[in-house]
Amino acid sequence: MTGWAKSRYTIGMNAYPELRLRRVRRTAGIRALFDLEIPGPAKWCWPMFVVPGTSIKEEIASMPGQFHWSVDRVCEAVEPVVRQGIGSVLLFGQTDRTKDNGGSPAWDDRGVVQQAVRVLKRAFPGLTVMTDVCLCAYTSHGHCAPLRPDGSIDNDAACDCLSKVALSHAAAGADVVAPSAMMDGQIAAIRTALAENAFDDTLLMAYSTKFASACYGPFRDAEGSAPQPVPGAPTDRKGYQASFANPRNALLESALDEQEGADILMVKPALFYTDMIAAVKARTLLPVAAYNVSGEYSMLIATARAGWGDLRELVRESTLALTRAGTDLIISYWANRYDELLA
Ligand code: PBG
Ligand code: ZN
Repeated sequence: MTGWAKSRYTIGMNAYPELRLRRVRRTAGIRALFDLEIPGPAKWCWPMFVVPGTSIKEEIASMPGQFHWSVDRVCEAVEPVVRQGIGSVLLFGQTDRTKDNGGSPAWDDRGVVQQAVRVLKRAFPGLTVMTDVCLCAYTSHGHCAPLRPDGSIDNDAACDCLSKVALSHAAAGADVVAPSAMMDGQIAAIRTALAENAFDDTLLMAYSTKFASACYGPFRDAEGSAPQPVPGAPTDRKGYQASFANPRNALLESALDEQEGADILMVKPALFYTDMIAAVKARTLLPVAAYNVSGEYSMLIATARAGWGDLRELVRESTLALTRAGTDLIISYWANRYDELLA
């Protein structure tokens, strides 16, 4: 026997064998007393894909469990999500109109995002409806901005286009508009446009720290939004999305977005960037969202399908990484399976 039996008074018991950390881990009940919890469904946002056409519900090949929905079926898509208590959805759209250099179908009031917002706000008044504000699914070349004749990115023209998109979403009733184009000045431009049109209550969620990531592949597949080859134009988005090797620049971007009038800051992708979530959180008093992107989603599905890991365990462990880092709002494709994977 060691320990208590040896002496009546033990001074400084903060070491083995008196101190044993396994005590707080021994039973599920004790662990639960001290463990952080997976955020409840109200803290989640489900990104969903709306497409032109009717009676469409088509699984996205690169994102098993996620679907393309036509507007007439978006309520069917969202009803089970609302039933699980998920607090918000984030809408992505496409167009069957001719795409052009400025992405003008993106601010068509009859576009599928604008229609879906109206339908969802009527059917689920308590649901917070967010919209992605970008041009890449609507431009002929797949960039998030118009191109100049020499193929270069026209940043300031993009800010005008993005303001029109945000206004059309706000007019349709979107609670939150979320610009993702990573153009300089886009937050100031959109905040000004909203103010000038009396959309004082529309929240502005800045994809403030959006990295040029290889994890967007499945999404670009789903949206048909990858950059196309154009003479003189960039072949990727590294000239506007943040460099994952330059964290100071990325943090400056989030500070600027806050100054320009963002209500919510976002880090994207999420799991490869938990350090950035923590760093942004340490520098702001705004809420911080994390976007658990398509590549991060499909990676775990592929692992589970190969029999190399348990999906529920993988999803829960990775989700808790976001909570530890300080995430306030989790934007994730897992949200439509909350009861099965996260409850
Ligand atoms: C469009 C946009 C992208 C994503 C959200 N908005 C793709 C991109 O920047 O190419 C990625 C979402 C995901 O991968 O889940 N600007
Ligand atoms: Zn884009």
